Amino acid sequence: MRIGVLTGGGDCPGLNAVIRAVARRSWAHGHEVIGVREGWRGMVEQLFEPLGRSQISGILPRGGTIVGTSRTNPYKIDGGVDAVRAAFEQVDALVAIGGEDTLGVAARLYAELDAPVVGVPKTIDNDLSGTDYTFGFDTAVAICTEAIDRLHTTAESHNRVMVVEVMGRHTGWIAVHSGIAGGADVILIPERPVDFEEVCNEIASRHAKGKNFSIVVVSEGIELPGAEEASSEGGGQVDQFGHRLLAKRGVGERLGEEIESRTGYETRVTVLGHIQRGGSPTARDRILATRFGLKAADLVVEGNFGQMAALRGDAVIAVPLAEATAELKTVPLEWYDVARTFFG
Ligand code: F6P
Repeated sequence: MRIGVLTGGGDCPGLNAVIRAVARRSWAHGHEVIGVREGWRGMVEQLFEPLGRSQISGILPRGGTIVGTSRTNPYKIDGGVDAVRAAFEQVDALVAIGGEDTLGVAARLYAELDAPVVGVPKTIDNDLSGTDYTFGFDTAVAICTEAIDRLHTTAESHNRVMVVEVMGRHTGWIAVHSGIAGGADVILIPERPVDFEEVCNEIASRHAKGKNFSIVVVSEGIELPGAEEASSEGGGQVDQFGHRLLAKRGVGERLGEEIESRTGYETRVTVLGHIQRGGSPTARDRILATRFGLKAADLVVEGNFGQMAALRGDAVIAVPLAEATAELKTVPLEWYDVARTFFG
């Protein structure tokens, strides 16, 4: 069997660990593995490359993806789906490693064309249903936590409020987890409406208790009260999946201005951006990615298509792709309550 592997959407640490695991398990069953370049674009344009021992060697700790990625959506390209159908004549099975968008395409291709595809959930955002955690998330949280630690020392030296904007798209998983780990004084996430007065009261209450600095972690996806429609649309830019480029809205910067003008405390803003997605995966992400890759290869060998590898508790199981991509996994209130205990 010729097994293709593609990575789609934003990259994240651990993609190469999955590719390695898929390849190693597939080879053990006597199958050939090929890289499909740059996500679904590689299926539309048949951009294939052989993956052998030399390509796979040494990639476990490497960030990014050796087969490249893109946000190409074959359903948004004229003749895109027919091209993918034709590509499946060259590829007997496909492991699609991606988030909501990439796996949404996989689910649709399986449902509509009976395409021999299995999924692996990746995203730093951890917003995919069907799995407790995605790989890449742990690394992003570790990077943000380290940044918050560093901002603490400079905030304290200068008596400043530090606003840290983190990624996460429409969910606040990265903000809540890194905020808890880094001891944030306020955390704002898209799941909860933002109230400027509440934020400023938390900061003022810290100052009243003798703390001369505060750390505010804000998720890029929050909506600010009174924000103009044009700016909240991210300058009108959307990708092929219709997603706004949230970082371009600059919610961290605007929140910082609001805090400074309302409280009078000097405020600085740090936008962590793509640093959160770069570099080597944590040990936890390497292990999760490896387990997901092995599971995906097993699903292919069993002919169990239309499924996705998922983490439930400590077990890696298979869940239907359709279920995993049906809705976003948002941050439950219980998680936010853990963080909120330490506000103010
Ligand atoms: O989905 C991963 C992610 O990093 C989001 O957190 C973020 O909103 C988006 O991708 C950024 O996309 P791009 O790399 O296209 O700027």
